[in-house]
Amino acid sequence: MSFPMERMRRLRRTPALRRWVAETRLSRHSLVQPLFITEGSGVERPIPSLPGQSQLSFDRAAERARRVFDSGVPAVLLFGIPAEKDARGSSADDPDGVVAEAVRAIRRATPEMIIIGDVCLCEFTDHGHCGVLTDPDARGERTVDNDATLERLASEALVLAEAGCDVVAPSAMADGQVEAIRDALDMAGLEEVSILSYSAKYASSFYGPFREAAESEPAFGDRRAYQMDPSNAREALREAELDLEEGADIIMVKPGLPYLDVISRLRDELDAPIAAYHVSGEYAMLQAAAERGWIDGDRALYESLQCLHRAGAEILITYGAERAAALIDGGGPP
Ligand code: PBG
Repeated sequence: MSFPMERMRRLRRTPALRRWVAETRLSRHSLVQPLFITEGSGVERPIPSLPGQSQLSFDRAAERARRVFDSGVPAVLLFGIPAEKDARGSSADDPDGVVAEAVRAIRRATPEMIIIGDVCLCEFTDHGHCGVLTDPDARGERTVDNDATLERLASEALVLAEAGCDVVAPSAMADGQVEAIRDALDMAGLEEVSILSYSAKYASSFYGPFREAAESEPAFGDRRAYQMDPSNAREALREAELDLEEGADIIMVKPGLPYLDVISRLRDELDAPIAAYHVSGEYAMLQAAAERGWIDGDRALYESLQCLHRAGAEILITYGAERAAALIDGGGPP
């Protein structure tokens, strides 16, 4: 009878040994909590497909952000849901718009908070696409007008930065959006505001609950003409390299778990910080299965974040950020 030479199990024997030899560790300092901002005051409207998340008016958002910060999560990512939508997304760059107002309220309540503003038009346009549209072509089809959209995104980013965002996060997948925003910020003397670019944002079915939450489902067609095809990974590297050349400080891969190879590849090839977005559909799947008692929700959330971090993401955006912070403080799920 021969025994294996390698005893890989020796260092797995106790929790202390396992923690001691862990190659990567989750930290609550990595976490970002997304918040949805709606009109009015005193409003807190639960989002059915995202248990634990609500549409919040600016005052409620400031209270929620305070609790998020007190739980040990240093950052929030803001999305706006305006009352009025039109073809050009006019409320996106209104200095008194929902997001700008929330940024100021959060800044007042929690000066140390890292405030990230999502820069996109889909929540603000009546057609639900991420930019302004071209006139119909010969076949009667309309698409996002890239260059006209850049101006709108730059103006939106400027308003958010002036309201007090530390970071603006363009997510429209318009070519040249990072450069257009960097130029606009620098020209306005906002050199210190960072850009987190949604560089590798895939045309994904995992955004379903978000579109319900943000009321941003496209009225016609889909986003495949500007978001990335799930077949591609090399293309993500090209997108990220272009964004870094244009002045991005952080790059993002989105969704998270189905795209671990993309995170890992970008981590190997690039030096910039990488953010992974554990998106609405990923979170909703965990919640739904946990509600049915089919999986342990806390463990599945923790493991999802561990894996995104192991693949190479320093920054983890998740609807479960507050819960994750509590689990991390407790040394992992019980
Ligand atoms: C676009 C945007 C979307 C998400 C973040 N920014 C939706 C989309 O591209 O359709 C999705 C995030 C999620 O699903 O959690 N502004």
